[in-house]
Order: sequence, then C-alpha cells, then structure tokens
Amino acid sequence: TGIEAQVASIVDGMKGMEGPLLPILHEVQEEFGYVPHEALPVIARGLNLSRAEVYGVVSFYHDYRKEPAGRHVLKVCQAESCQSMGSDDVAARLRQALGIDFHQTTPDGRVTLEPVYCLGLCACSPAAMLDGEVIGRIDADRIDEIVAEVRA
Ligand code: FES
Repeated sequence: TGIEAQVASIVDGMKGMEGPLLPILHEVQEEFGYVPHEALPVIARGLNLSRAEVYGVVSFYHDYRKEPAGRHVLKVCQAESCQSMGSDDVAARLRQALGIDFHQTTPDGRVTLEPVYCLGLCACSPAAMLDGEVIGRIDADRIDEIVAEVRA
C-alpha cells in the first residue's frame, strides 16, 4: 500500500542513525498524524526487530497515536506544577464535557484529548495546549470556552 511504501522510505532514510526506532516512529507520526498499524511490520523488518518489539514501544510511549487524531488536539498538562494547581479537576471536567477519556477522540472526530507533561508554562498553571497554542490559568470559564471552540 501507499502507507507501507512511504514508511519504508522513512525507515531507509533513518535506519543508519543511532537508536533509530523512536525517531522513525516520530517521523511516521509527523507524516500521517498517527502510527498506522501497517507501519509496524515495515519498521520491524527495516530495523531487524520483531513486530512485538516495535508494537511494545508504540504502546509504551503514549505520545504515539494508534489512530488518526481528531480535527482538534487538546493536550492537558498533568505534570507537577499543574497538578498542584488543579489540573486533575481540569482534566476531569474536560473528560466529562467531551465524553471521552485521555487518548480518545470524540465519535464525531472533532477532538482528541491527550495528557502532556509540562508545557513550560508552569507559572501559568494549570495549562493546556489546543492545536499547538498554549493556554494558561485554566478555570471553569476557560474550560467552557475551550469546549465550545472544539465543538464548533
Ligand atoms: Fe504544567 Fe509545567 S507543569 S506547564
């Protein structure tokens, strides 16, 4: 398939690196927005790894998506500073409002919710990132705005 050919060319270009697996997975996700299932055997073959090893790494690192993301990607910081400022509540409210858990996408494909571990915005905890833009000091009003925005 086209996916397999594209992945094969990424693997060919990068397999000479030291520790190529993570950079290759990163590149594949950049290319497709997720790591397609068909990519795994191609990567395994190219790097002389078992398919299970590659799959294990993809599963271990939550940064790799196994399915395409929604139209919006909302990342909620769950690292220490944000935790101390109530990021658990923020995440709980968002999960409830959107009806999905972390690492899930709404059935209408509008939004994917993901945890992230520090956005470098600790001074403005709790923080999140919507489609690459950081949002600080999230309170209940801001959550409503975010939900309205991703649903629009
Ligand atoms: Fe959340 Fe740093 S801990 S931005």
